[in-house]
Amino acid sequence: MAHSSPSPARAAIVAGLRTPFVRAGSDFAQLDVLELARAVTVELLQRTPLDPKEVDHVIYGNVTRPVMYSNLARELVLAAGLPKSTPADTVTLACASACQAITDATNLIERGYADVVIAGGVEMLSNVPISLSPPLARALVSASQARSMGGKLSSLRGLALADLPPVAPAIAETSTGLTMGQSAELMAKLNGIKREDQDGWALRSHHKAAAAWDDGRLDEEVAPVYVTNNGGRAVARDNHIRRDTSLEKLAALKPVFDRHYGTVTAGNSSPLTDGAASVVLMSADKAESLGLTPRALVRSYAYHAVDPSGQLLIGPAYAIPKALDRAGLTLGDIDLVEMHEAFAAQVLSTLQKLESKTFADEELGRSDAVGKLDPEKINPRGGSIALGHPFGATGARCVTTLANEMQRQSAHFGLVSVCAAGGVGAAIILERP
Ligand SMILES: CC(C)(COP(=O)(O)OP(=O)(O)OC[C@H]1O[C@@H](n2cnc3c(N)ncnc32)[C@H](O)[C@@H]1OP(=O)(O)O)[C@@H](O)C(=O)NCCC(=O)NCCS
Repeated sequence: MAHSSPSPARAAIVAGLRTPFVRAGSDFAQLDVLELARAVTVELLQRTPLDPKEVDHVIYGNVTRPVMYSNLARELVLAAGLPKSTPADTVTLACASACQAITDATNLIERGYADVVIAGGVEMLSNVPISLSPPLARALVSASQARSMGGKLSSLRGLALADLPPVAPAIAETSTGLTMGQSAELMAKLNGIKREDQDGWALRSHHKAAAAWDDGRLDEEVAPVYVTNNGGRAVARDNHIRRDTSLEKLAALKPVFDRHYGTVTAGNSSPLTDGAASVVLMSADKAESLGLTPRALVRSYAYHAVDPSGQLLIGPAYAIPKALDRAGLTLGDIDLVEMHEAFAAQVLSTLQKLESKTFADEELGRSDAVGKLDPEKINPRGGSIALGHPFGATGARCVTTLANEMQRQSAHFGLVSVCAAGGVGAAIILERP
C-alpha cells in the first residue's frame, strides 16, 4: 500500500512585540544590546500563553555586533531565562537580518525540526563596537605575547600617528566605498525620483505613524522598556516621529549625501536607531494544540542580490516577484504591504521598477510588469523613515505590523519587503489562515 507523505508543517506567526524605536544616542544610549533584546523577548513570553520550555530554538539578527557576544542569540536564551538546553544562533543580513531569522525559523518549522521558535533582531547604534586600526591591533597582540619589556616596546615601535585613532563601523559598502545614503542618491538620479515625491513619502510616513499611535494600533505591538539609569524611567514611545512636519519644512532641509545636486535629506532618510523586536513562530498544529490562533502563516519568501555598484537598494524589486511566484500569487493578490523605508528614494525606485514593463522584460525575463501597488496599501502604521530603523530588528517589526494589520483589516495576503546592504533584497509573503 502506498503511503501518502504527511502534509508539511506550516509556520505561523503567533505573536510579535517590539521595543519603542528611539534615535541612537537618546533614551537607550546607556543600555547594552543584550538588555534590549532581553527586555522585549521576556515581555513577549509573558504576554503569550506559552511555557518557555516549549521554545525549541532562538534565532536573532544583529548587525553592528559587540565583540563580547560571539553568539548574541545564545546569550539571549540565557539572559531571558529560557531553558539552558535551547539552541540559538545569531544571523546577519544587514537591514534584513530579522527577515533571515524569521525565514530560518520557518525552515526549521516546515522541516519538522522545531515546533516553536523565537526569531527577531536588535540593534544598538548608540553603542557600536569601536575597533582599533589593524596595525595598532597587530602591534598590541604582538606586545602582549612578547616576554620582555624591550620586546613589548619594539612591537609598538613601527606605529604611525595615523594608526592610533579608533575605527567606527561605516555604513558603507566594502566593495564600492559608497554609503547607503550615497547609493540612495544614485538611485534617485538614475530613476529620476523627484525631491518633492521623496518628501511627500516621508511626510506620509510620519503622519501614518502618528495616527497609528493616536488610535492605539501601535500599542499592541510596542512594549515599554524600563531604563534603570538616571533614577529610572519607562520608555514607552518611539521618539523620532514628527507629527508636526510638513512639506514646507521637509523642502527646507539641505541634501546630506550630495550637498550640491542631491535630493536625499535627513527628512526623507531613515534615522540611526536603537531597538529590538521579537516574534513567536510555531507550527500551525502546535498553535492549535496550545489553543493559540495564528495571526498569519508564512506563505513564501525569497531573497535576491544585485551588483552593489549599481542600484544597491533595488533588491526587493527582484525578490518580490520571486516570492510571488513561489506563493503562486500576483501583486494584485496582495492586500497589504510593509515595505522597509531605508530612504524614500529607495521605496519610490522599487515601486517604479515593479510597475515597469521594461524592467520586467530586461531584468526579470517577464512579458508583463510585476504590477502597481496602491500606496494606501503600503505601511499603514508608518514606515522606517518615521518609526526608525534598528538594522537587526526592522524585519521583525515589519512582520509583526503586517500580521497585526492583516488581522485588523481581514486581509488575505500581505507582503514584507526589505532592502539590505550588499545589494540584497528580501520578500516574505504572509497569508491569513
Ligand atoms: C541622514 C542622516 C545623516 C541625518 O542625520 P542627522 O543630521 O543626525 O539628522 P537629524 O535628525 O539631526 O536631522 C538634521 C536636521 O533636519 C531636521 N529634520 C529631520 N527630519 C525632519 C523632518 N521630517 N521635518 C523637519 N525637520 C527635520 C532636524 O530637525 C535637524 O535640524 P537641526 O539641524 O536644525 O536640528 C542620518 O539619519 C543617516 O545617516 N541616515 C541613514 C541611515 C542609513 O544609512 N541607514 C541604512 C539604510 S539601508
